[in-house]
Formats: sequence, structure tokens, C-alpha cells
Amino acid sequence: MARVLSGMRPTGNLHIGHYHGALKNWIKLSAEHECFYFVADWHALTSDYGDTSQIPVFTREMVIDFVAAGLNPEQCTIFVQSQVKAHAELYLLLGMVTPLPWTLKCPSFKEQQEQIGGKDLNTFGFLGYPVLQAADILIYRAHGVPVGEDQSPHVELTRDIAKRFNNFFGNDLLPLPKDILTPVPRIPGTDGRKMSKSYGNAIMLNDAPEDVNKKLRPMVTDPARKRRTDPGNPDICPVFDLHKVYSDDERQAWVREGCTGAGIGCIDCKKPLIETINAELAPMRERRSELESKPTLVDDILAQGNRRANEVAEETMALLRAAMHIG
Ligand code: TRP
Ligand code: SF4
Repeated sequence: MARVLSGMRPTGNLHIGHYHGALKNWIKLSAEHECFYFVADWHALTSDYGDTSQIPVFTREMVIDFVAAGLNPEQCTIFVQSQVKAHAELYLLLGMVTPLPWTLKCPSFKEQQEQIGGKDLNTFGFLGYPVLQAADILIYRAHGVPVGEDQSPHVELTRDIAKRFNNFFGNDLLPLPKDILTPVPRIPGTDGRKMSKSYGNAIMLNDAPEDVNKKLRPMVTDPARKRRTDPGNPDICPVFDLHKVYSDDERQAWVREGCTGAGIGCIDCKKPLIETINAELAPMRERRSELESKPTLVDDILAQGNRRANEVAEETMALLRAAMHIG
């Protein structure tokens, strides 16, 4: 059984894009591997260092989202990065052996230098972002890191840092982690753009059935279908992208035929989708209301997860400190 680790920055509540793009896979992996999943609250500081007031709220909400979505705290370790102080210690040690050009050439850093993000991220902390991420991964001696494609360069840098560290301090000290890339379906928001809470176009995991209905009914469709009698093209319709995720072949064929032949209206097309999304969210709502009715449940989950994470992290640090003759 391999060890798997992944994390997310606490940027607010999660939506169905996060579920299909990451959490669903995390849940699957936790049945087969020893998994560690965490809220990267220190990483959130790299971009929000000026106002940290929301981080504790978002961190807790994220843990609730994880468990509500179906991550079982008995089956995997759920924890908060800043509660395992050894991440910071390893970050410091890795920083000593990481050549500056390796961090400077990271796509995330280069992008910010070109001011693509717009924010002022010209800080030491932001430059160190991928080194902190390497510490997150290496401190659990994880073999697999389920991430989106955008994070692959960070896992690659982690491997390079681990190799260099092993060269100095002992072969096989740190296993070289691999990214676990899973095909991520396209989940557009209700306006057809990328789904994002900040665009107000997202179906949130904590949406009530009526919210899902209210968001999906006016969802953008093929603009050619002004009237019910106008034929449409599912291949350019964002609603059909959702059908590709939520509907079986038979129902997709029904949509295609009904759309191109103007046999169904867009509301007819959306109805089964609304039902299926609500059916997927139903067990999440149940688990969420249980968690929210007993706030100590979340505290208990985190106490247990943080304890387990600290145990493993300290084990690694003991090896590394001995190998480095320091600490
Ligand atoms: N950088 C990741 C992201 O923005 C979050 C993250 C932090 C992470 N540490 C990690 C992911 C370690 C995987 C492993 O999505
Ligand atoms: Fe889109 Fe469905 Fe309307 Fe076709 S019928 S345009 S696929 S919503």
C-alpha cells in the first residue's frame, strides 16, 4: 500500500468542480492507499498575507466540505498544515539545498513576475511556495500526489529537491514522489465560464436542492436555441458538458437527438440534470447537517488527524535530523 498525500488551500467553500476534479479521486484513493489530506493554511498566506482573518473560518469549512463530500476520517488522515509544525522545519532545511534558479523557473513564480495574477506576490514567501509544498509531500515520504495538471511542475520540483537531498545526506532517505494525474472533466459554471465561486456561477457542495434548481434553470445554453423550435448543438452547450459528467450514454443520446431535432426544450434537458446533481449532493447534505449539529465532531476529526500527521512527520524528521547531524 503506497502512501498518498494531497492538500488544498482554504479559499472558501467547495463546488462540484472541486468534487469531480479532486475530491472524488481522493475518496477513491483512500480505499486503496494510506492517505493524508490537508488544508494548506500556510499556503493561503502566500497570497493573502495582509488579511488573514478568513483563514480559520475557511479552514474549518474546508474540513467540513471534505468529510461531507465523503472523505472518511477513519479511512484517511485529515489535518491542517499549520498544526504540524515540522512542515516549517523541513521547509527551512529544504530551502538550504534548493538552488535559487529552480524556484525562479517555476511557472507559478514566472507568471507572477509577469504580473498575470494582478496581485502583489513579489515576496520571499511566494517564491518559497513550491519549496513549502515539497516539504508537505516529503515529510510524509509520500509516493503519490493526486493533483491537477497545473501542480505537476511542483511535484517535479519536489522530486528534484528530494534527489539532491538524498545525494547529500543518504540515498533512499526520501522516496521520489509521483503526481497522480486523473482526467478532469470540464465542469463549466452556469454562465458557461470556468466554475468559480467568485464568478457567482458555481454549484456549491452545500447548496440546497432549491439553489441547484434556481441556478441551473437559467443556465446558459446554445444561443442558437432562442425558441423551443430552434434546433441546437449540444457540442457547444455548457449544459451538455454537465450531462457528460452526470448522464449515462442513453441519456446523452436522448439530449443529442432532442436538441439537434428540437424535440425537447432546454428546460426538459436540464430537469434530469438537476435531479442527478441533487441526488449526488443528498448524502453530502446529510453528513454536513450531522457535522454542523455537533461542532465537536470536526474538532475530534482534526485532533485525531493532526495527531496522526504529527506522528508520521516526526518520524521522518527524526531520520532527517540524524542524517544531517542537526537538531
Ligand atoms: N499548491 C496546491 C494547490 O494550490 C496545494 C498544495 C499545497 C498541495 N501543498 C500541497 C497539493 C502538497 C499537493 C501536495 O492546489
Ligand atoms: Fe443545451 Fe440541452 Fe438546450 Fe441543447 S437542449 S441547447 S444541450 S440545454
